[in-house]
Amino acid sequence: MKILVTGCAGFIGFHLSYYLLKKNYEIIGIDNLNTFYDVDLKKSRLKIIKNFRKFHFYKYDLINKSKLDKTIEKYNIKYIIHLAAQAGVRYSLKNPKTYFKNNLEVFFNIIESSREKKIKHLIFASTSSVYGESTKFPSNEFDNTNNPISLYAATKKSNEILAYAYSSTYNLPCTALRFFTVYGPFGRPDMALFKFTKNILENKKIELYNHGNHSRDFTYIDDIVEGIVSVIKSPKKSKPSFNIFNLGKGNSKKLKDYLNTIEKKLNKKAKFKKLPIQVGDIKKSHSDISLISDYSNYNPKIEIEQGISEFIDWYLNYYK
Ligand SMILES: NC(=O)c1ccc[n+]([C@@H]2O[C@H](COP(=O)([O-])OP(=O)(O)OC[C@H]3O[C@@H](n4cnc5c(N)ncnc54)[C@H](O)[C@@H]3O)[C@@H](O)[C@H]2O)c1
Repeated sequence: MKILVTGCAGFIGFHLSYYLLKKNYEIIGIDNLNTFYDVDLKKSRLKIIKNFRKFHFYKYDLINKSKLDKTIEKYNIKYIIHLAAQAGVRYSLKNPKTYFKNNLEVFFNIIESSREKKIKHLIFASTSSVYGESTKFPSNEFDNTNNPISLYAATKKSNEILAYAYSSTYNLPCTALRFFTVYGPFGRPDMALFKFTKNILENKKIELYNHGNHSRDFTYIDDIVEGIVSVIKSPKKSKPSFNIFNLGKGNSKKLKDYLNTIEKKLNKKAKFKKLPIQVGDIKKSHSDISLISDYSNYNPKIEIEQGISEFIDWYLNYYK
């Protein structure tokens, strides 16, 4: 089976492609290797998946719809997993335009091409950030998500709404997956685990927003990958063919506990600077995963002690 994975040099796209290639799928990967963070890290990920004969890589910007169409035609692609986007809540405060381009215009290209080429299933990344400042936990897919508090969340919520309309108007099978704080080896340098580990090792202060009182549903990358894979072959059958699923661990941990676990593994105390909450940041995330668990065989297993340990082992080896 052939699958187009956009953002294949990104954190989640790389792990997903690697998993599927090991299972003998043919993966067509697109990524423009943008400079949002260290391009060498993206190249290192790519180097690993380029070892597979059934991996075909294309470096271009998905804003170019005619290139995208040619790639889909060339391989007669019927399944798309769209992970390319401008991620991050804080970055959206100062760089709104890149979110408009990469998360809205590019998404429009993807969904239009999917309609034109009669894609059998379009799966795309949404985010826990769509739950905004909700105080009802755990969050489920039927909760209100009409009040995003960041542009990032607003673009992802817009993707869900567009996909719903395409599913019902054109019968395009779509699934939106709301990822909850994904972490693990080869993780993103702008995310907490990477920054905390780096700063502790370099004796630098960690910035603890909201005085460290955030809680997050930290979800290990392998669980996320298994969650994505669990729905590929099963778009919703009835009309409109549209699903939204939370993909989280299903519990919420205090950031301080997460930090303690990192300190224990590194056997070193962190120095930190407590800061007020940032505009756009949600205080807590906690997923209700019963919908996807009932629909597929999704069953996240990795606890933070193990997940953090895997990340730190990778980090120490990679940056030694
Ligand atoms: N990592 C998380 O915790 C998390 C949580 C919720 C949602 N998400 C979403 O999951 C998806 C993957 O996230 P990630 O953590 O792997 O991010 P990432 O930044 O590591 O990966 C995204 C990749 O897409 C590529 N890309 C971006 N715009 C592109 C364009 N216009 N054309 C071609 N390639 C482009 C980038 O170069 C990058 O390699 C994103 O949609 C993100 O918003 C991630």
